[in-house]
Amino acid sequence: MAKILVTGGLGFIGSHTVVELQNEGFEVVIIDDLSNSSEDVLDRITSITGVKPIFKKLDLKEKTRVQSFFNKHNDLQGVIHFAASKAVGESVEKPLLYYENNINTLVYILQEMQKLDEANFIFSSSCTVYGQADEMPITEDAPVKKAESPYGNTKQIGEEIIQDVCKINSEFKGIALRYFNPIGAHESANIGELPIGVPQNLVPFITQTAIGLREQLSVFGNNYPTHDGTCIRDYIHVVDLAKAHVVALKRLLDNKNTTNYETFNIGTGKGSSVIDVIKSFEKVSGQKLNYKIANRRAGDVIEAYANTKKANTILGWKAESSLDDALASAWKWEQSIRKNTQI
Ligand code: WQD
Repeated sequence: MAKILVTGGLGFIGSHTVVELQNEGFEVVIIDDLSNSSEDVLDRITSITGVKPIFKKLDLKEKTRVQSFFNKHNDLQGVIHFAASKAVGESVEKPLLYYENNINTLVYILQEMQKLDEANFIFSSSCTVYGQADEMPITEDAPVKKAESPYGNTKQIGEEIIQDVCKINSEFKGIALRYFNPIGAHESANIGELPIGVPQNLVPFITQTAIGLREQLSVFGNNYPTHDGTCIRDYIHVVDLAKAHVVALKRLLDNKNTTNYETFNIGTGKGSSVIDVIKSFEKVSGQKLNYKIANRRAGDVIEAYANTKKANTILGWKAESSLDDALASAWKWEQSIRKNTQI
């Protein structure tokens, strides 16, 4: 079966994708610099699939090391590129760190892929590229707007770089998957989201509040023009998202792609408000959540949820898990990682 490189493969979405790739019989090589993950995730993946992926600790900013890696692994048939910094707020404070880590590394990977016999590339993009879209649900041809953060800008620039490569190299095939909001964890609770420090994202903050790690959740604003005043997002189970990567990769390996650069929105197609998420979490956990209404957070869009028609019909993928399922898996994961630590 094909040998696939997964960069950032010990991270939240990367590790779940490695599991799904192995479930489909792919040979997986992981590169990770461990800046936002830990090596024990390798054993956790192995405990799920029974197969230990090849792992190389490598900082993709080191061009010569990237070159020697590809010289050694010149039989790769695909690359799924997750490795990037992804904290929106941090990117505003440290833009150059984001441009260096998210753009330089992409360029070095793409340069090396030009030497491969088969260059199939899946890029981790984000619905952030749409900013506040004018119409809901959001389609892939919605205009890409000026990014609200350097992080979002690196995703836009990344897509443009890949398109430019596809224009000059018809043998190179790329798919950009524009994620909405990934949440939850593998059913085994062996892998999941492990935010470092205070979680920026809603769901890990909810589960850490429920488990007693955080005092109270702040809901960032309830005076938006939505059904209950709180922002709306499309929360997708991370395993559904991981499976979308395998489907997209197979599309390229089987030469089913119609052009050598395609984009797909990967979401459930359903919008949920912050309060909807809290109510769903309280239902599945049986826990009352301690939260308060706070001020709006700068940079938040009012609503963003996917039109999934293209992914459903052309990619042949559809999210299977509900918001309740995803939150129940997030809660099971939180409980499992805290059971051995005193809170
Ligand atoms: C969701 C909603 C917050 C925390 C970001 C990136 C996106 C992707 C996912 C990387 C918003 C509200 C949150 C809290 C809250 N990241 N919220 N209290 O901002 O939609 O997307 O993460 O790929 O690119 O932009 O996700 O989970 O931070 O926020 O009220 O403590 O929850 O205001 O409405 P977001 P989020």
